[in-house]
Amino acid sequence: MLKSDITTKDLQEKREKYVSKAVSNGNLNIASQASGSTITDKDGKEWIDFAGAIGVLNVGHSHPKVTEAVKEQVDKFLHPGFNVMMYEGYIQLAEKLCNVTPGDFDKQAILLNSGAEAVENAVKLARRYTNRPAVVSFNRGFHGRTNLTMGMTSKVKPYKFGFGPFAPETYQAPFPYMYEKPDHLSDDDYVNQKIEEFKDFFLSTVAPEMVSCVVMEPIQGEGGFNIVPKKFIQYVSDFCKQHGIVFVADEIQTGMGRTGKLFATEHFDIAPDLMTVSKSLAAGLPLSAVVGKTEILDAANPGELGGTFAGNPVACAAALAVFDVIEEENLLQKSETVGDKIESKLTELSHKHECIGDIRRLGSMVAVELVDHPESKQPNPEKTGAITKYANENGLLLLSAGLKGNVLRFLAPLNITDEELNKGFDILEQAFSN
Ligand SMILES: Cc1ncc(COP(=O)(O)O)c(C=O)c1O
Repeated sequence: MLKSDITTKDLQEKREKYVSKAVSNGNLNIASQASGSTITDKDGKEWIDFAGAIGVLNVGHSHPKVTEAVKEQVDKFLHPGFNVMMYEGYIQLAEKLCNVTPGDFDKQAILLNSGAEAVENAVKLARRYTNRPAVVSFNRGFHGRTNLTMGMTSKVKPYKFGFGPFAPETYQAPFPYMYEKPDHLSDDDYVNQKIEEFKDFFLSTVAPEMVSCVVMEPIQGEGGFNIVPKKFIQYVSDFCKQHGIVFVADEIQTGMGRTGKLFATEHFDIAPDLMTVSKSLAAGLPLSAVVGKTEILDAANPGELGGTFAGNPVACAAALAVFDVIEEENLLQKSETVGDKIESKLTELSHKHECIGDIRRLGSMVAVELVDHPESKQPNPEKTGAITKYANENGLLLLSAGLKGNVLRFLAPLNITDEELNKGFDILEQAFSN
């Protein structure tokens, strides 16, 4: 049982003693209760949440509809194990995912626990379906912390350093980064150049007929909210079709309404062969999915995929409630409105602070890239660190991202109230001026 009389200081000391430092903490206080976009700590202090447990809380903390669905399920049963005896939630959720993901083709889904596990299973399916070994991801991409997904991930420190060797046959292709576009090139010329580099990659690095799948985040999350240009993703999607490669959209961070559409790929008029979904899918309970073409999902045989806890019924009940909340509260529309407000605030701040080099967003997936000066574009991870530190000591949960650690990212719940947003903005403003 949890002890209610234990102090914050005691818990901080025990954390130091008993929990590995390898798991980092952005905020050193102890959460006690959370609702909407506000967390209250053990000492009664309130924290506005612009982090949403790294993109997990698109419907907010402890949404009443979600907790009600969870309680109802907890009272029935916790886990018969889908491989042992089926239950309704898993099947209903698979149907829902097949119906709401892009693509006018027959679909199936499998449920798992974490994002990395979904990516691993998408790769397994693609390999079985194509009978090819290689996996292509992209520079600046992030796909998880398991051995295979580490190999598919770009940022060496802290995600990969000293944790190898990695799985063979993983390759990272070039990816556009519009902020790094040389001034003498137009946007279109730059994207064309990246497309040429992508084509060359299949001459210099791996032959297309060896590649089972290309896995892409439509907006690179850990990579700094780098939005893929439409022409590039469409080219990659067509290239995959042409070469019999499975195109996988990793929508683990971009999905579930974050970008103003249920899934980010909808912005680019493409339908991936497979999609990975997790994070906000079950509003905080561990759940992920691979959903896509039936012919690919069907390529594996009984017993080859799954897992002890995969598709836990309590998490499925939460996920079904999340889909209802997104619809009933018009969260796709709100995603756009909230994102617009955050962008306006950042634009206002950019008039006062020369360190703001770039503001980018799709829906309410918003980021600001910090530099020494907008002209030099030199990354400024020190200022980024100082801002997140100030925020996390003064009432605002705020995250950084980016290969060079110089991006602030905003993943607030989509139904954040104006009052919460403005409180957060006040602290953000102080953090920039500090
Ligand atoms: C795009 C993407 N893929 C995969 C993952 C890995 O998810 P998990 O941490 O649940 O394994 C993440 C997590 O941040 C992610 O953002």
